[in-house]
Amino acid sequence: MKNLILLLLGAASFAIPGSVSAQTDERIPIIFDTDFVMPPADDSLALMLALQSPEIEILGITTVAGNDSLERATSDVLRMLEIAGQPGIPVYRGADMPLVHEKSDFAVRSYGNWYSDEPPPPPPGGFATKQIENEAAVSFIVRTVLASPNKVTLVAIGPLTNIAQAIRAEPKFAENVKQLVIMGGAIALLPDGAGNITPNAEYNFWVDPEAAHVTLRSGIPIELSPLNVSRKSALTKYWYEKMVAVETPLTRLLKDTMGARFAAEPDKSWFMYDQIAMASLIDPSLVTTERLYVDVNIDHGISYGVSVGGRKIWPGAELAQEMNVQFDLDWTRFIEMFVARVQAPLQGERKRAAEE
Ligand code: RIB
Ligand code: CA
Repeated sequence: MKNLILLLLGAASFAIPGSVSAQTDERIPIIFDTDFVMPPADDSLALMLALQSPEIEILGITTVAGNDSLERATSDVLRMLEIAGQPGIPVYRGADMPLVHEKSDFAVRSYGNWYSDEPPPPPPGGFATKQIENEAAVSFIVRTVLASPNKVTLVAIGPLTNIAQAIRAEPKFAENVKQLVIMGGAIALLPDGAGNITPNAEYNFWVDPEAAHVTLRSGIPIELSPLNVSRKSALTKYWYEKMVAVETPLTRLLKDTMGARFAAEPDKSWFMYDQIAMASLIDPSLVTTERLYVDVNIDHGISYGVSVGGRKIWPGAELAQEMNVQFDLDWTRFIEMFVARVQAPLQGERKRAAEE
């Protein structure tokens, strides 16, 4: 009887609200590459979505300097896995600096802390007891992709330093990646295409333009989620309150880390950059895309890190690659799926119950 109940519990884990596909063996194996910071940062909300989605199998998480230092990304993500009840997912330490881009006065004055060598602050609940793996991120990424040719999808929601290093490290790597979903760039050709760190550059591409340049030209099939589509989202107090209306370890974390912000600025809203990129892999029908050639400027001038998209190749962009570029979002379906999954019982606990 106990086994029957646990079996039913296991089956129920694949029928949570917002579910688009239902079978264990249909899960999409991913490597989640992130400049992670605890909520309210978008990377952590994107990871919550991935952890709570039965369509996704996270093979490993690789960290990179971006929103904050590599050490902060790593210690925060280890703790998040404990809170989410999935401490078995391995975490690999990645690049602590961009390939070429150096710390500057502009970087220090502007958003982000990628260059910082300050020790990371303790995450909510204190530093994790879970440890990082004894293998570098690039080695894990290359090894995992080559072990399962054309099966592994990379979800990259920070600067592309780790991905570019993997491309450079192993000539057979790029041709064996199934797909690469990137949150990055801003496309002036499409509506809402301004930058968010310089007038035309998006933050992730601007932190490591050379890595974005290598990655976008690599031949890997790319689904690009630029600022154009991020700007179709607005995380408001209304949706925050819906999310935290149910009590779970994840919604408790959201309350602790986001509650004060919504109380202080009840009319403000936030873009859901990385969450949209992650959601588009779970349910591609949430976004509208156009095939464009996209390249990244690596001249150290006023357009450093700017992504340029065109419908045809233009002079200077002969090596640009065609990719899917997201520019519109079914906001209501997306946010309803996001809220339902974040507030659902922890998937880690349901999986463990099913396996017992
Ligand atoms: O420009 C938005 C991107 O920059 C997101 O990935 C966010 O996490 C920040 O890193
Ligand atoms: Ca990010």
